[in-house]
Amino acid sequence: MKLILLGAPGSGKGTQAAYISDKYDLPHISTGDLFRENIKNETPLGKKIKSVMSTGQLCPDDLTVELVKDRLEEADCKSGYLLDGFPRDIPQAVALDEFASPDVVIEIKVDLAKVEHRITGRRSCLSCGGSFHVDFIGNVSKCPKCGDELVIRKDDNPITVKERLEVYENQTAPLIDYYKKQGKLVVINGDQSIENVFSDIVKVLG
Ligand code: AP5
Ligand code: MG
Repeated sequence: MKLILLGAPGSGKGTQAAYISDKYDLPHISTGDLFRENIKNETPLGKKIKSVMSTGQLCPDDLTVELVKDRLEEADCKSGYLLDGFPRDIPQAVALDEFASPDVVIEIKVDLAKVEHRITGRRSCLSCGGSFHVDFIGNVSKCPKCGDELVIRKDDNPITVKERLEVYENQTAPLIDYYKKQGKLVVINGDQSIENVFSDIVKVLG
């Protein structure tokens, strides 16, 4: 099963990916997480994309496609993958079609007016990739999943969120039509509880 999760910043891609990856035993590949790991480890790639990522703009397509291509060549991706946050524009989708075209694209559709609250209250774990909200876990400093430190992402502030939403509407939203035309798009209502969003996804995937 080759799956893509598509959706605005804060739509719940990372949250749902963790559940899907567990249930269907698929490697969860988040380009955002891979970039953050590179920044944390101060790799050459991390140094190149650090400033652009903090503004909410997209990292260059060539670097992103290369990163994903390398990751999909690893052994655990042989029988499928779950991509979260990739592709992010038409050139990336065209590139992916050339080396590992997806079977199903799940769009998590949310009211964009509500995502700022979700993002500014998010606490992220850089170790396990977990994503939580203070509304649910309170003001704790340790990851409820792995016990490591929780952080507030550098791009999780109201100004960058506005920028990320504009990037989403201009560059990523055209992918909805792209995959609709390929007959691969499934739309899920993301404006419901985490559990109900997941149960709708399971109904689709079986
Ligand atoms: P990335 O890390 O992918 O960020 P994003 O797309 O902006 O998405 P988020 O991670 O913010 O949201 P999410 O949908 O995962 O939501 P989550 O589940 O955490 O990318 C960051 C940056 O990296 C980009 O801006 C770009 O610079 C670069 N980048 C990444 N990929 C790239 C690419 N392909 N090309 C170029 N550049 C790229 O949930 C959010 C919050 O809401 C959490 O607090 C969660 O607990 C809560 N929540 C989740 N679901 C629900 C629900 N149903 N009800 C209530 N609360 C909920
Ligand atoms: Mg995410």
